[in-house]
Amino acid sequence: MHDSLADLQALYAQQGDQQYGGEAVSQLEHALQSAWFAEQDGAPDSLVIAALLHDVGHLLAGQHDDDIAHGIDDRHEAVAIPALKPLFAEDVLAPIALHVAAKRYLCAVQPDYFASLSLASRQSLALQGGPMNAAEAARFAASPYAQAAIALRTYDDRAKIENLATPTLDHYFLRARAISLPARAPRQEPV
Ligand SMILES: [Fe+2]
Ligand SMILES: [Fe+2]
Repeated sequence: MHDSLADLQALYAQQGDQQYGGEAVSQLEHALQSAWFAEQDGAPDSLVIAALLHDVGHLLAGQHDDDIAHGIDDRHEAVAIPALKPLFAEDVLAPIALHVAAKRYLCAVQPDYFASLSLASRQSLALQGGPMNAAEAARFAASPYAQAAIALRTYDDRAKIENLATPTLDHYFLRARAISLPARAPRQEPV
């Protein structure tokens, strides 16, 4: 089978061994651990798959490991959306699009959150706009997907553990296939 979902799985299988920007895990390990924490939390399928795919924009953008150190923000949360839009509904797309905003939000409203972040995540925060101001935080909190994005953020922040055993990429792509949008059928021309 060769479709966009298969292409996406191949992207992780082929390029997922890249280091996850300045952390101790690869992009693939980070994706699997994020999905695993979502699964253990009893999150719905949409959020498990959002957790799996939340950083696909790094792979699509071809982020280099030292980009952050060089002051480059690849805007991966936005890069991911056009690629994923044909495949998933808004309940998958929105938490992905908002996962960087969720970090900026949590830094604004939870005084101890910033200190809990990894060094790389603290460094990228500045490039991503820093903590939200009050107006930005109020707008974020009003989003119907704010809670899902915050939950995704908590899985994301934990998913940096060396050698953690998780279910496989196949396991999660089976779940992804179950909630992906039906392939668009070719238009039937009258005969
Ligand atoms: Fe991210
Ligand atoms: Fe991440």
